[in-house]
Amino acid sequence: MIVLGLESSCDDTAAALVSRKPGEKPVVLSSVVVGQTNLHAAFGGVVPEIAARAHAEKLDLCAEQALSKAGLTLADVDAFAVTAGPGLIGGVLSGVMCAKGLAAATGKPLYGVNHLAGHALTPRLTDDVAYPYLMLLVSGGHCQFLLVHAPDHFERLGGTIDDAPGEAFDKVARLISLPQPGGPEIEKAALKGDAKHFAFPRPLLDRADCDMSFSGLKTAVLRMRDKIIAEKGGLTVQDQANLAAGFQAAVVDVLAEKTRRAMKIYLEAAPMTPSLCVAGGVAANSAIRQGLETVSSSFNAAFIAPPLALCTDNAAMIAFAAIEQSTLRGPDDLTLSARPRWPLDTSQPAMLGSGKKGAKA
Ligand code: KG4
Ligand code: ZN
Repeated sequence: MIVLGLESSCDDTAAALVSRKPGEKPVVLSSVVVGQTNLHAAFGGVVPEIAARAHAEKLDLCAEQALSKAGLTLADVDAFAVTAGPGLIGGVLSGVMCAKGLAAATGKPLYGVNHLAGHALTPRLTDDVAYPYLMLLVSGGHCQFLLVHAPDHFERLGGTIDDAPGEAFDKVARLISLPQPGGPEIEKAALKGDAKHFAFPRPLLDRADCDMSFSGLKTAVLRMRDKIIAEKGGLTVQDQANLAAGFQAAVVDVLAEKTRRAMKIYLEAAPMTPSLCVAGGVAANSAIRQGLETVSSSFNAAFIAPPLALCTDNAAMIAFAAIEQSTLRGPDDLTLSARPRWPLDTSQPAMLGSGKKGAKA
């Protein structure tokens, strides 16, 4: 089965071809991602209308490029997959309409895929991880713990009630005058800082559940920054480094402790090959990876972090999710609709909050 996937739920326009032969491992034949960072740079966040227009302009070009990189034509494609939510509605609509056009013109099946399911199923694509596994999704838009039981069965153990960690990294970088995207900049600055110089809070650790909050931590950094500026008239490079290191250490501690709790719940069912998986741009952070790896090894579980290009938004994960789900369900028809909100686990109450990159699901 060869699937052409499309992704356009946030600020990356992506197309990819993924194939899987019966009994064999899936193969990413090509993956094209066109970012929009420069289009939104002046606005301090993703502008939904600008994003939607750019997706509409780029989707067909990305699809053409993905086909040519894979050395294929539309005739070789068995089905189309598209992110049908959750995300910024204009972008999701652009993708759904493009995919419907391709399906209608070729008479081939169409699969609407949940973007979060795409992220959550990626460890199956890259590492053939056995179900059930524990997934921590940490990006600029998402933050949740999922027990992945099957391609269409996700149990949410908890998530952020306000900002996603990547969003907090970006906001804190802005507060201390570091460039965007803030995550890698904070990580770099933190290397030269003393993580213990400032005592920042570890929000929600007093609550026994797996929910997280990063907004108060960001405010604590803001207060400390203002205090330093009031005392000294500005921030030195060392102040920046100490603030970055203190903030990052607090995020690592919160993620590690909440992961420990999620692992305990996961291991209650005694999985045969326990695995802790991560996805999302924040998983690029070495201190966070290290913290999570320490937790997983303390439980004798494998730690799986897909390569960054498949951790961040891409269309290979969408094509693969459709392949994985096609064993359990048929395709969608041309009434497929775009969903701004689409929780993976409908048995749980909705998460609060909606960040700069759209609904938290
Ligand atoms: O998954 P992603 O590419 O996009 C979505 O959020 O959908 O994640 C981007 C986020 C940004 O907020 C960025 O600051 C953060 O991931 N990020 C990092 C690092 N690299 C990227 N955060 C912390 N440390 C990093 N090294
Ligand atoms: Zn994403």
